[in-house]
Amino acid sequence: MNSRDVVLITGASKGLGRATARLLARRGHPLIINARRDSELAEAERELAPLTTVVSIAGDVSEIAEEIAGAALQRFGRVDVLFNNASELGPSPMPPLQAHPWESLLRIYRVNVVAPLHLAQLLLPGMKKRRRGVIVNITSDAGVNAYPGWGGYGSSKAALEHASRILAAELEGTGVRVLVVDPGDMNTEMHRLASPGADLSELASPDDVAPAIVELLDDVRPFARVEAQKLEAVR
Ligand SMILES: NC(=O)c1ccc[n+]([C@@H]2O[C@H](COP(=O)([O-])OP(=O)(O)OC[C@H]3O[C@@H](n4cnc5c(N)ncnc54)[C@H](OP(=O)(O)O)[C@@H]3O)[C@@H](O)[C@H]2O)c1
Repeated sequence: MNSRDVVLITGASKGLGRATARLLARRGHPLIINARRDSELAEAERELAPLTTVVSIAGDVSEIAEEIAGAALQRFGRVDVLFNNASELGPSPMPPLQAHPWESLLRIYRVNVVAPLHLAQLLLPGMKKRRRGVIVNITSDAGVNAYPGWGGYGSSKAALEHASRILAAELEGTGVRVLVVDPGDMNTEMHRLASPGADLSELASPDDVAPAIVELLDDVRPFARVEAQKLEAVR
């Protein structure tokens, strides 16, 4: 990674996405940031703009992937790192899979699996041409462990992980790398929705986790799945 590398981050208005954007902005990386809520995204842009060039595109990543990729390519001519971080949990409290409304399942899969792949499809031609690029897909231990009640979100993360493995196999030798990263438990809005009423004050802050994730961008392996415990070791 060098500071000229252009990074696109979905879900960048708060939590892990915002912490990662902040860190990369301090290093001078040009950024494209996305989240649905305009006001919070604008606030993130105000924080980052004094540090680097930032393009912000508000909207649901599952609906505006083409607009996001198009704006990034128009402004910077390339994207070197795609950070698929935005995620949908589904209803809170989370229903058991056997009673999970199917419309919600569709939405979870659209946001957590299809949108990241769609963005990758849109950006891969340029990455392959330059023989340089990293696709980071943020996952969760719920994608591996069968936690009751986490079926919609957890199975979507499992699908994202396997799609990432296949993508990496297809991209072998192209110079484009795929990273699947489980950031571990963090004190964020998503975790508050997943565990209503729980005390999250002991959990890691996204600002503590982001540096270890950014360090992984220099990993040379064509594919890696990095667990939270390994990230902690880097921290
Ligand atoms: N927090 C944890 O303990 C934990 C554990 C394991 C994995 N993760 C993973 O870490 C990643 C970040 O989670 P977080 O905890 O940092 O979440 P967060 O603090 O709730 O932030 C989520 C971000 O994504 C945006 N977002 C949500 N849905 C979106 C959509 N459809 N289109 C565009 N933007 C969207 C949100 O803004 P808007 O709401 O305005 O769109 C916000 O900027 C996720 O992939 C999550 O699965 C988190």
